[in-house]
Formats: sequence, C-alpha cells, structure tokens
Amino acid sequence: MTAHHKMDEPDRRNRLDAMAQGIVGVGMDRPDGPEKVSGRAVYAHDGQVKDMLHGVMVRATIAKGTLLGIDEEPVKALPGVRAVLHGPRFLRNPAQGAAGEAPVQGSAEIAYFGQPVALVVADTFEQARHGAQSLALRYDEAEATVAPGEAEAETPEDKQSATGDLDAAMRDAAFSVDRTYTTPPHNSAPMEPHAAIAEYRDGKFTVRASCQMVKYNLDELADSLGVDAADVHLLSPFVGGGFGSKLGISAEAVAAALAARELDRPVAVALSRPQVFEATMRRSETRQRFRLAADADGRLTGVGHEVLVSNLPGETFSEPATQATPFLYRGENRVIGHRIARVNRTCAGSVRAPGEAVGVTALEIAMDELAQAAGVDPVELRRRNIPEEDPSRGVPFSSHMLEAALDDGAERFGWSDRPKGGTRNGEWLIGCGMASSSRVNLLNDSAARVTMNRDGTALVETDMTDIGTGTYAILTQVAAEMLGLPPDRVETRLGDSDLPKGAGSGGSQGASSSASSVFLACERLRCEIAERAGCAEEALTLKDGHAISDNRQQPLAELLQEPLSAEGVIHPGDAESRVRQASFGAFFVEVGVSAVTGEARVRRMHGSFAAGRILNAKTARSQCLGGMTFGIGMALTEELMHDPRDGHIVNRDLAEYHVPVNADVPQLTVNLLEERDPWTNPVQAKGIGELAICGAGASIVNAIHDACGVRVRDLPATLDKIL
Ligand code: MOS
Repeated sequence: MTAHHKMDEPDRRNRLDAMAQGIVGVGMDRPDGPEKVSGRAVYAHDGQVKDMLHGVMVRATIAKGTLLGIDEEPVKALPGVRAVLHGPRFLRNPAQGAAGEAPVQGSAEIAYFGQPVALVVADTFEQARHGAQSLALRYDEAEATVAPGEAEAETPEDKQSATGDLDAAMRDAAFSVDRTYTTPPHNSAPMEPHAAIAEYRDGKFTVRASCQMVKYNLDELADSLGVDAADVHLLSPFVGGGFGSKLGISAEAVAAALAARELDRPVAVALSRPQVFEATMRRSETRQRFRLAADADGRLTGVGHEVLVSNLPGETFSEPATQATPFLYRGENRVIGHRIARVNRTCAGSVRAPGEAVGVTALEIAMDELAQAAGVDPVELRRRNIPEEDPSRGVPFSSHMLEAALDDGAERFGWSDRPKGGTRNGEWLIGCGMASSSRVNLLNDSAARVTMNRDGTALVETDMTDIGTGTYAILTQVAAEMLGLPPDRVETRLGDSDLPKGAGSGGSQGASSSASSVFLACERLRCEIAERAGCAEEALTLKDGHAISDNRQQPLAELLQEPLSAEGVIHPGDAESRVRQASFGAFFVEVGVSAVTGEARVRRMHGSFAAGRILNAKTARSQCLGGMTFGIGMALTEELMHDPRDGHIVNRDLAEYHVPVNADVPQLTVNLLEERDPWTNPVQAKGIGELAICGAGASIVNAIHDACGVRVRDLPATLDKIL
C-alpha cells in the first residue's frame, strides 16, 4: 500500500489538528536522547569492526598544479603500513552534484591547498598518521588565484535580473542607502568530524558514514566507486551535526571504501579537525552592494543587491546571497546581480543557511542604515515595507508572518522601553538593535514506511537522517498522533539506505518533508483500518490499541491478522510556482560595547519566529537557539582566514576559528508563533532549521551602532573595527 501526494493545491483539511491526541507539537524529549548522553549511540567512527585497519588522508600542499608522483616506497616500509592509495585508481573523477560537493577524490590536478590526494592505510591510526606525514609528493606547481577578484569574475546570465529603473529611483529618492558589505568565508564546523568505516564482502560495500542526505550520498558513493548503488549499503543513524558539510559524500567515505576493497579488510578513515576545515566545505566570502531608495515616508521604491562570491573553477554552486531579496520588501525598481570569482580555495558549498545567512544579514544592516537616514523607527520601517505580494514574481504569499513576528518580538523584548542608545554602564556603552528574518520554504521528495503491529506498537522507517535536529522525536510524534499510540510504543528507524528514500537533512526541508511522508503512510494505514472497522477514515478514532467509531470499539489485534504496513510518498508539486512560500521572524538584541577595548558583548537576545506548524516545541526552539548562536558568531567572531600567498587556511581548528562559546552567549529567548500554511505540505510545517540564522548577525551589528555610533560593514565586528 503506497499513498502518493503531490503539492499542486493547498491542503486545507488540517488533518493533524483533527487527530486531537495532543502529541504533535509538544516538547517531547528526544527518544534517542538517553542513548546519546550515555555514549551508546553509535556514530560513524564508533563502530569498531574486527580486523579493522586505519587510513589517514594526505593533502596537497600547493594551491594549484599537477601531482607528478608520490614516493610511496619509504612509507610502505614503515611499521604497520599496509598500503598507500593514490593514482588513477584512487583519484577517480569527482562526484559532483547540485549541492556543490567537493571533488572527493581530487585528480592529478590540484585545485586548492588541502585537497586530499592519497590515503595511507596501516594497522593503527598512529602508524597511518606517521605514514601520511612522511609521504613526499612531487608537483608541477602552477600559478594560483587565491583571493577573489572582481576583474575575472563570471557573470552568469540566469542569475541577473532588473525591473524598472533603479538608477532613477535612487536619484529621485527622499532617502537612500548605497553601501557595500563584506562577509568572510565560514566553515560549517560540525561537532562530529567527518568519518567512515567501510567493509567489502562478496562484491558489496557496507559503509558507516556521517551523512545528511543518505539517498543522494548512496548514489554519489556508488558513482565514485564505479559500482551499482545496489552494491552499496550506507548507514548513518546518528550524525553529530552537518551544517551543509555532509550534504554530499566526502573524501573519507570514498577513500575508506576503496581501501577496504583493495585490502580486503575493514578500513576506518576519520578526518582530523584541520582536515574538516581544509577538505570539506567552506561558505564563500561575499561582497554585497545594496542600493535602497525610499520615499519621504521610508517606503522603498527601489532595491538593488549585487554580490560577488567565489568558488573553485568549474563548480556549479555559488552562495545564493540574494535568495530572499526578491520578496522580503517592497519596491518597484529592482536589480539583482550575482558574480562568481574563480579561486583556488577549498570548495565553496552550503553552510548553515546558504544564501540568506549572509544575504539577509547584509540587507538588514542596510535597512538599519535606511531607518537612520529616514528617521523612522527600525521596526516601523520594516512594517511599512512588507509587500502585498511577491514584488518580483507577482504571486501571492502562501502566508505571511513578518509583521506578526515583528510585533511579537518588539513586545516581548520591550523595544519601546529599550535603553537609550549609548547609555553608559561603567565601561560599557549599551545599545539595542533588531532585524527581520526570512528563509525560503522548500519541500523535497520523501518516502517513509509505517508498520502497525498487532500488539499496539508501530515502526517508522525512512533513510531520513537526524543530524542533531530532532528527527527521531518528530517522526515518532507524527506516527503516534495519527495512530493513537503513546510515543513510547512507536519506534523510528533512520539513516539506513535499505529503508524508503526519505528527504535527508538540508535546506530546512527535512522535517516537513519527512513528517509529510510519515503522515501519508499513517493516513493510508488509517484508511485500511477504517475499512476493516466498517467506517470512514475521518470517523475513525484510534486510541490505546483500539479502533473506535460510532460508539463501536474494536481491539486492533482483531482487525489486524498480521502487521500492516503502508508507505507514504510526498512530492513537491507546482504550488511553488503559484505562491511564494517563506518562513519569517524577527530578532531583538541588546549589546554592550566596551569604551575601553571596543569589545562587543551580547547582553540579551530575543527571536520570534513563524515556521508553520511546530512539530516539537522543544527541538524547534533548540533549532532557533542554535541559529541565534550562529548569528552571534557571524556578527562577532567567525572568520575563516586564507593565507594570501598560497591560499592555505590559517585558522583550521576550533581554537583559532572562533565559534561562539558559552561565555559569548547570554540568555536567549525564543517565541514560536502559531501558523497554518495550507500550501506547504500535508502537515503544514515549514522550514525552521536555518530561519534563526538569517539576519541574526545584523541585529547585533545594528545594536553596536546604536551603542557607540560605529557602523561595521565588514563582518565580523571584531574590536579593531569598533575602537
Ligand atoms: Mo544545510 S547548509 O542546507 O545542510
């Protein structure tokens, strides 16, 4: 039994609310929590296999050139070393995909400093590391471009647009802003470094790896190995964060599999923290020019957003920094420009809300500059510029919660009673700032199977992943709600490529897509049970292992002679082309800036967000806390630094690459607004994972300006830029 559903039309039935079991939405604890905190959850590198060998990747130490040879004999003679893998067999063509996967196996051509070029396999990790450090590489070095330049940047036709006459709007504007903002490269920095353990037996691979998108990663892995996907079993039940860096298969998984086949032994490969920085993904640095033209009331008449980003030569991905600009605010005259510089730096890909994370942040600083120029309160300025419909596509919004989020956030933060900017408290100058948040809402194909057992338990199965976000919890809740079971009677299995192909975690579509497929499977089961009970599905109540309708109560065990399974499959339809779908929010923050050192500290921060139905109040809130924390990092500390001589990443560990730590993060408060958006998907949930990143940093930068009058346009706002 399979139920397919395509989102061509709004789904106004609101079936989940009608279930009225009160399970979906509550802040249920994660069912996987006890396993994780007790160390029993088996992450990729935890699965110790008998007779396992260890591999350590070797990196290129030039930014561009050709690998001429590798002196492997001295390394092979080292104690414990079993093999040195390199050359055409190891250096297969890169498996590239839409997400901008790094060239996983590289090639003889070196494109960036840190590119994996060989693998040393030994009996112990220490022996492999010694071998890798001893391996001599011979290059023909070529001249590299290690810093993005304007001159040689590409201007892809399909990424430019212009309507009306922005130049005229700027000329005629009562108030305008024409400023350029820059953001540095970022690393995804997941807590769990990339790792894999591969086994090869009877022509089949079993690979335990740390992946966000199992269904795609399986194909990429098979493609890289040159085998059928049917010959690869990929397992990723627990993932310690991805933040984009695990969207595509990466080098260690392919290398481990190749080595396992070559040596006929299980092989484990874990990237060191510096290797995660150098060889997985970075977010491109951005240079963003904003032109905002407004009338005497601060109403926008024109918006221009022209960006310069970078990536390796030949890569299709480029940081979509302008993604929210076409719809966030009004204005008839519009320009979008997007240029890509080609550089010999680590592959640029998706990192923590690709696009809006940096694009909305720059826009929201520009909006603050406009508010200041026009003498309009920043919240009011945004309120006045909320468009009636998508101003670029001329289609309606599926639902629009920006104003509600602004009002709710302002109220909860106490915006109208905020301390006056520049209020002094000892050495600290106090200031407040705010920013809007928005992120496009996506839906992905997703399949799930749900099995109802005679004993009143159920099993949910999909290859969807839980990257720390709470997938185990929300899918358990959706099934429990639909089938009238206590959540502890539902087991959810994830992250196994043998299971139905789920959404995967990426682009903030995982929760709504996978929950929709579980919902559809459950709905199909309910139809079947209703038929057996002799009633309509809508009239059926499932409760405590019983089917109830019209005062008739039958034990499920009587209706089910054997376990009953159904599959649900959600497909994105053409709703996307008929309405604009987005999640919205607003940030409010108070900072202190030291008048002595120029150091900025966040004192309190509030976010109000609307992301459709909240499936689990606790895990959704945690997503927002994480996003706001990323915002603190983006505003104040996070910055990947490339050496201008050879492009190597200088700060390639968590001591030198500064993500916010506890001392940087004050009490954060989050309020989630009720929203039902029938255009999105059958469960009416919207993207929340990345929403709270988009614009968060701007609220802090704006507060710094309020506190001390310094406008930082080059992130992060380190003390040297403020003093
Ligand atoms: Mo996310 S950066 O789309 O994994």
